[in-house]
Amino acid sequence: MMELRDVTKHYPQGRRIVRALNGVSLRIEAGEFVSIMGPSGSGKSTLMHLLGALDSPTSGQVFFQGRALHLLPERELAEVRRSRIGFIFQFFNLLPTLTAVENVALPLLLAGQRRGKALGPAYEVLDRVGLSDRAGHFMDEMSGGEMQRVAIARALVVEPEAVLCDEPTGNLDSHTSAEILKLLRSLPEPGKRSVVMVTHDAQAAGYGDRTIHIRDGLIDADELVVARTTHAITVPHA
Ligand SMILES: Nc1ncnc2c1ncn2[C@@H]1O[C@H](COP(=O)(O)OP(=O)(O)OP(=O)(O)O)[C@@H](O)[C@H]1O
Ligand SMILES: [Mg+2]
Repeated sequence: MMELRDVTKHYPQGRRIVRALNGVSLRIEAGEFVSIMGPSGSGKSTLMHLLGALDSPTSGQVFFQGRALHLLPERELAEVRRSRIGFIFQFFNLLPTLTAVENVALPLLLAGQRRGKALGPAYEVLDRVGLSDRAGHFMDEMSGGEMQRVAIARALVVEPEAVLCDEPTGNLDSHTSAEILKLLRSLPEPGKRSVVMVTHDAQAAGYGDRTIHIRDGLIDADELVVARTTHAITVPHA
């Protein structure tokens, strides 16, 4: 359902060029939970931005549900981002002046739904992440794990076909991380929704079905997770 074909991403930086991705090809099927690992600066976030239609490649092709994103104008990319993809990028953009349920409803409000209509689904997903009793809290009245669950609920409220997470457990203690990872694990639906997660933590990666290792803007290894969670063992993916 998501595919990169020989994708490069180069950033001009003064007189130099930063080569963030150097020819990456990969395919992620609907229903898969894929973890992305690799050293700092290896190109993981750049890869996520391309998968999520947040940026365009320098060369190569990007497909989402069979649509060629590299050919779409910005207006249509924005529509793909808004209605088909849920982003969970480290507490990002949770608005402090809104309550939890208003934050969750935000993508629907931005898509033009009326407040009265948007709040219903927002309460439903808040319930799904176990936060119905925190719906009226502001962000500074919640724990890190709760805020991260608000971010997940907000990503889910549009019923996305892909959920993209960049270090979703980066700032959390191990117990709270495990809660968030179990929640993410429950999201992929066979033939429907996939999850892609960047993580530095091999144990977190073990919650997925498959781990892709990136190094210097290239795929270094692509492995299936054969024993999930705590002591994951991996084998090469064909
Ligand atoms: N907008 C940009 N302009 C110039 N260079 C960039 C830009 N974004 C990223 N880079 C560079 O591209 C490379 C890959 O960056 P990227 O953010 O994808 O790394 P990462 O693997 O996510 O690292 P981290 O684990 O630290 O988040 C880095 O060398 C970075 O400095
Ligand atoms: Mg990054």
